[in-house]
Amino acid sequence: MRVPIPVCFRRRAVGGRRVLIAVAALLPALAVPLAAPAAPAAANGVVVGGAPTTTDSDPWVVALASKERFGSSRSGQFCGGVAVGPRTVVTAAHCFGQEALGTADWRKLPDLRVIVGRTDLSGTAGQEVPLSDVWVNPAFDAATNAGDVAVITLPQALPDGAVIPMAGPADTAPYTAGTQAQVYGWGDTTGQGTYPQGLRTATVDVLADSVCEKAYPGNADGTYLRASMVCAGVIGGGKDACQGDSGGPLVVGGRLIGLVSWGTGCAEAAFPGVYTRVSAVSELVAQHM
Ligand code: ARG
Repeated sequence: MRVPIPVCFRRRAVGGRRVLIAVAALLPALAVPLAAPAAPAAANGVVVGGAPTTTDSDPWVVALASKERFGSSRSGQFCGGVAVGPRTVVTAAHCFGQEALGTADWRKLPDLRVIVGRTDLSGTAGQEVPLSDVWVNPAFDAATNAGDVAVITLPQALPDGAVIPMAGPADTAPYTAGTQAQVYGWGDTTGQGTYPQGLRTATVDVLADSVCEKAYPGNADGTYLRASMVCAGVIGGGKDACQGDSGGPLVVGGRLIGLVSWGTGCAEAAFPGVYTRVSAVSELVAQHM
C-alpha cells in the first residue's frame, strides 16, 4: 500500500527553526501522522465544528481528487474547489504545488479530476471531470501565502451548471467584521487527521483584519496581508476550516468571498483561518475564464 501523501505542508517555527511538518491526507487505514498538531484543536468539529451538508443544496462545492496519489477510499479527494462558471472552477494555488501533487506539473497526474455532485466520497454519485487547463497564479507567494488562487478550466460545462458568483472589487459589505459566513469542505474535522466521507459546513465570523494581523505578523506559517486575505473564525476557537479544505468556499449571502488558504493549526482560539480574498482576485480570475 502506498504511503499517505501530504496535502498541506505547515511550516512551523520550532525551537527557532523553520521545520516542515507534513499534514497528510491520512486515510484512517493507512496512516501514521507525520507530526502531531502543536496543540489539539477543539474537538467535534469541515471543517472543525461543522455539520453535514450536501452537494444538492450547495452544488458549486467541488472536490479535487487523484486516486492514484491520495488513495481511493475517499475518491482521492485532497482539496476543495468552487464552480464560478459553467466550465470554471477556482481553488487554491497551493493545491497545485509540488508538495501537494508530488510534481510541479499537474499533467503528470493523469487521473486528476474535479468531482461534482458527490456529497459522500465513499460513493460514486455525480461526475468525475478531467481538467483541460489550469492557471496557477504566478504571483502566489509561498512565504506569505498571498495570492493563493488557481483557475481550472473544464472540457465541458458542469452537469447542472450550478455556479456561485464571486465577490467583486466593489463588494465590501460582506467583508465587514461580524458578518456570518459559511465554509465548506471534506477536510479534517478535528485537526488530528480525522477525514470525513461527507461534505460539511461550518458557520464562522468574518473577523477584523487586525485580529489576523496580530495572530500572523509574519511567522513560519505565513503573513496576514489585509489587501489579499480574509480573516475568519470564532472567538474562543472551535470552528474553522482545516487540512483538506483548502481551495474550498467561504460564502456570505450567496456570494463567494474567500477560498480556504491557511492557518496555524485548526480552530485554535488564538489562530483564526485565513482565506484568499476573492474580491481582490475576481478580476484576475475572470481574465482566465
Ligand atoms: N492548507 C490547508 C489545506 O491545504 C488548509 C488549512 C486551513 N487551516 C485553517 N486553520 N483554516 O487544506
